Amino acid sequence: MGSSSSRRAPRSVLLFLLLVLASPLLLAVASSAFLEDDVILGTVAAAAARLGGSKGANASTRRPAVTGGCDVVGVSGGRRDEVGGWKEGIAAMAARPDVAAWLRRVRRQIHERPELAYEEVETSRLVRQELEALGVAFRHPLARTGVLATVGTGRPPVVALRADMDALPIQEAVEWEHKSKNPGKMHACGHDAHVAMLLGAASILKAREHLLKGTVKLLFQPAEEPGAGAKRMIEDGALEGVEAIFAVHVSHEHPTSVIGSRTGVLLAGCGFFKALIRGGRDTVLAAASTIISLQGLVSREADPLDSQVVSVAVVNSDGGGNDDSTFVLGGTFRAFSNASFYQLRRRIEEVITLQARVHGCDASVDFFEDQSFYPPMVNDARMYEHVKTVAKELLGGDAAYRDVPPMMGAEDFSFYSQVIPAGFYYVGVRNETLGSVHTGHSPYFMIDEDVLPTGAAVHAAIAERYLATASVSSSYPDPVEQEL
Ligand SMILES: *[C@@H]1O[C@H](CO)[C@@H](O)[C@H](O)[C@H]1NC(C)=O
Ligand SMILES: *[C@@H]1O[C@H](CO)[C@@H](O)[C@H](O)[C@H]1NC(C)=O
Ligand SMILES: *[C@@H]1O[C@H](CO)[C@@H](O)[C@H](O)[C@H]1NC(C)=O
Repeated sequence: MGSSSSRRAPRSVLLFLLLVLASPLLLAVASSAFLEDDVILGTVAAAAARLGGSKGANASTRRPAVTGGCDVVGVSGGRRDEVGGWKEGIAAMAARPDVAAWLRRVRRQIHERPELAYEEVETSRLVRQELEALGVAFRHPLARTGVLATVGTGRPPVVALRADMDALPIQEAVEWEHKSKNPGKMHACGHDAHVAMLLGAASILKAREHLLKGTVKLLFQPAEEPGAGAKRMIEDGALEGVEAIFAVHVSHEHPTSVIGSRTGVLLAGCGFFKALIRGGRDTVLAAASTIISLQGLVSREADPLDSQVVSVAVVNSDGGGNDDSTFVLGGTFRAFSNASFYQLRRRIEEVITLQARVHGCDASVDFFEDQSFYPPMVNDARMYEHVKTVAKELLGGDAAYRDVPPMMGAEDFSFYSQVIPAGFYYVGVRNETLGSVHTGHSPYFMIDEDVLPTGAAVHAAIAERYLATASVSSSYPDPVEQEL
């Protein structure tokens, strides 16, 4: 959140105020997707230093032959699995020390080479190498660096699991053997773990492919933080024929391997704006009254029971408020419903342009709609139930699962949730002994790697059980008409 001003190139700036409102709501934002104020100021491209010939992932670091590990499951037909064998089978596979070691190795390799949005070239290559070694078919590229893998019968029903691959423009402050080797970039939001967990799920599902009652698609997507990678994946056909989708995010709110979710809205719609105010008699006064008026949108217009945020976080001027000067205002807005989100967007634009007119100035507002305009993340009630049921069954009872409150962070998984029923859930990584207590986007972020096999197992179980349930009962009605 506050990590970027020191990196910005010097400018001819007379006035630079960084007003980060430390409201609890905004602080909560830090543990989920959040765009740096670099993005607000539109300097993403400038911040993106090239990797410059860095070595590819070391392909000799091989995964264990889980695909040959069907013996662990001890099932050759479907019968035993129908009545609960799936739990033991998946848990046994995830519990194998060689699997845990492989997942840790993969996660550390990705952690050492963090890549920003749409630059996940090495990460994407590593994903493809691992999938190839597992014998899992995939399509590449989607959304520039994305990978779409397929396991199962190749026929409907089709369920999808998603991992995000991008890192953040943050300098890692954790001193450890596998610290980021790319200066100024860090996997500070756990996407390295998400990729490892989804590869783990691929290996488990591949080993149990003969038991699958349909098809599982695995989405390795770019650009979750800025860039709306999910939207591009959808545009490139990642959801074709898919009737439901699930994803996991690591969380420091819960102890290692505890699952958390909720039905309905889980994460806020999140937008950013940058306004340029020019001309007129006094851009400083115009900007000042605009800021004051923006504060009224939530405090005087919004339903007090419908939580929203509008926050001006950057004020920047290149001059003394005279005729030639330009004033820049940047900020963010959040809301939990699509209607409130779009209403805020409309009103922010109106307030800025009309207040500027009051002072004889012209204003333009950019909402970065291709980059960072994420609708609210809403869990489908049935997918939420499915996550909860599978997590409890797989991980052993009520202690393994928690209902969680919504928060003001954002996730581009919301793009999928707008198209098909979706289930988004957290897996805990909090471990005080290890020091795994820092929220996402902190330079001190770290995770308890013991979470990796759990995440892989829950992913795999959610997909396998979804297909089993969808194909034998009508508890998941209204599947999208299949075009396969
Ligand atoms: C890959 O790792 C192996 C074993 O650690 C090492 O011998 C080899 O030189 C590495 N290759 C590359 C290209 O880094
Ligand atoms: C959200 O609201 C916008 C603007 O009214 C509308 O275009 C869009 O279809 C809505 N999306 C959903 C999922 O309701
Ligand atoms: C934290 O990590 C340590 C070391 O790996 C482990 O012994 C302990 O069980 C973990 N605690 C939790 C709550 O997971």
